[in-house]
Amino acid sequence: MKNSSYLIILLALGLVFTSYKWISSGSSDSADPVPANVQSSTISDIMTRTSVRAYSDRDISENTMDTLLHAAMAAPSAANKQPWRIVVINDKKILDTIGERFSSMTMAKQARRAVVMCGDTTVTLPGLGTEYWIQDVSAATENLLIAAHAMGLGAVWCGIYPMPERVSEFSELLKLPNHIIPMACVCLGYPAAETTPKDKWNPQHIRYNQWRRDYPREIR
Ligand SMILES: Cc1cc2nc3c(=O)[nH]c(=O)nc-3n(C[C@H](O)[C@H](O)[C@H](O)COP(=O)(O)O)c2cc1C
Repeated sequence: MKNSSYLIILLALGLVFTSYKWISSGSSDSADPVPANVQSSTISDIMTRTSVRAYSDRDISENTMDTLLHAAMAAPSAANKQPWRIVVINDKKILDTIGERFSSMTMAKQARRAVVMCGDTTVTLPGLGTEYWIQDVSAATENLLIAAHAMGLGAVWCGIYPMPERVSEFSELLKLPNHIIPMACVCLGYPAAETTPKDKWNPQHIRYNQWRRDYPREIR
């Protein structure tokens, strides 16, 4: 075979190899820097989370609890004040008391843990900004719910604040000082059964640019 034939074969092989690499890696000007699998597992965990109120006997390891608490504290926070304070309940007597005292929290009796998400009103922004503690603690609570679901746990957010009688009963039960306000009690355990998320998607709840009562969908 002539030298020129070898050269053509070599060039053809090089072209095939380069094309294969380009196709398998996707085009280099892709707009999305997040790998598809990472993005889809995060979105999928958000979309499939649902409140779980029945739990199995399986215990939750301290490692798992530690991850949940880290996830909670990774939440955004107004002026980064991080006013969340968290009381983890693993005492069966306290779990039973919560389940018996509050008709909307009976699942606490079955839960392996409850996590009471509180706000410290002494570390918030001054004036009206103080109220941001509620949003900060809510963001931390949602992080905890999604992290729990992502790790195969079931959880339900049970509201405490702003109901005065719930706030005072929890404050007394957990011996909270006056500046620590209990906001939510998250009951946790491994789900006793398969769970199905609710479909809450409703495009009617969206407006573009300005609120109009006679909102025509075409203005998008
Ligand atoms: C502020 C707040 C308070 C809630 N309080 C309770 C409660 O006391 N008991 C309860 O079983 N669920 C409670 N939930 C859970 C809601 O009932 C639940 O999120 C809602 O029905 C939607 O269902 P999903 O979480 O499965 O999507 C509360 C949720 C929020 C956000």
